[in-house]
Amino acid sequence: MNTTITLSGRNGIRKGRDLRGEIRRINEIVPFPPVVAEILDAMHDKNVTASKVTALIESDPALTARILRSANSPFYGLRADVVTVEHAMRMLGLEEIGHLLLAAQMKSRLSALDPRQRERTEALWRHSVAAAAVARLIAREHRLPTDGKEYTAALLHDMGKLVLIQYYPKECAVLEQLIEDLCIDDVEAERQTIQVPHTEIGRQLGEQWRLPKEYIEVMLHHHQPERSPAVPVLTAVVRMADLMCESWGDGIGEPDEGSTQSFDACTAVLGPCAPALRDVHFYDMREHLQQELSKQKEMMEALA
Ligand SMILES: [Fe+2]
Ligand SMILES: [Fe+2]
Repeated sequence: MNTTITLSGRNGIRKGRDLRGEIRRINEIVPFPPVVAEILDAMHDKNVTASKVTALIESDPALTARILRSANSPFYGLRADVVTVEHAMRMLGLEEIGHLLLAAQMKSRLSALDPRQRERTEALWRHSVAAAAVARLIAREHRLPTDGKEYTAALLHDMGKLVLIQYYPKECAVLEQLIEDLCIDDVEAERQTIQVPHTEIGRQLGEQWRLPKEYIEVMLHHHQPERSPAVPVLTAVVRMADLMCESWGDGIGEPDEGSTQSFDACTAVLGPCAPALRDVHFYDMREHLQQELSKQKEMMEALA
């Protein structure tokens, strides 16, 4: 179906722009870094050896420096200095190194984009990496069956916003104003202005990047995890982490209003796997997770 969106012109958006068509074309020209695709494959392939990932890291000196800085941060509490990638791999394990590597690659990818949008790109990075760390904490503490994918899924969940930040900066400014003035969430503001929410843009981007389908599903459904057909638990964990980060200030523009209802929707999805979550209050969980996240801040900053 060839849909041309003719915008009304209200809220300062230009009339007559075919945004869907533009977004489709942008998705065709925003390539996914091949090394990240390799890392994603490697992390979920049981046959991949640590030496392959070590070689991937060592092929990039800047990346090697970031991984070593993170591995030596107080968060990990390692007694000996970690001086080689191979040593870091032995101490932290393939999965943890894979996460650091993925986050570091995302960071350098975002930093290479339009410098005029640096403030928004930095905010997106902080939000993504905080949500990833918090999603991991939630999944581990409540032993949720996410198959170890919550970190990557949370890191990628808002990548649809990358397209908006890079290619629609004026529209972003209008969106931010609308969210503040009307106290509506970002998806609703996007529907009212550009008519395509970042969740849908994320789905298109994920398909273009040929990401595994569970990550695409999280990108599309993270604002309504109950609608996630194949991975509702993974999507609800990401959304819970997303809400926590938004609420304590590591967010990218969702108002606090409505957080508790969205949180309840997540606990309804997760309740059958973790009955204890049904009795957890939003603000208690937020306080606990914020404290836990603060212990990781130094390690996360070392990736920058
Ligand atoms: Fe989102
Ligand atoms: Fe988010």
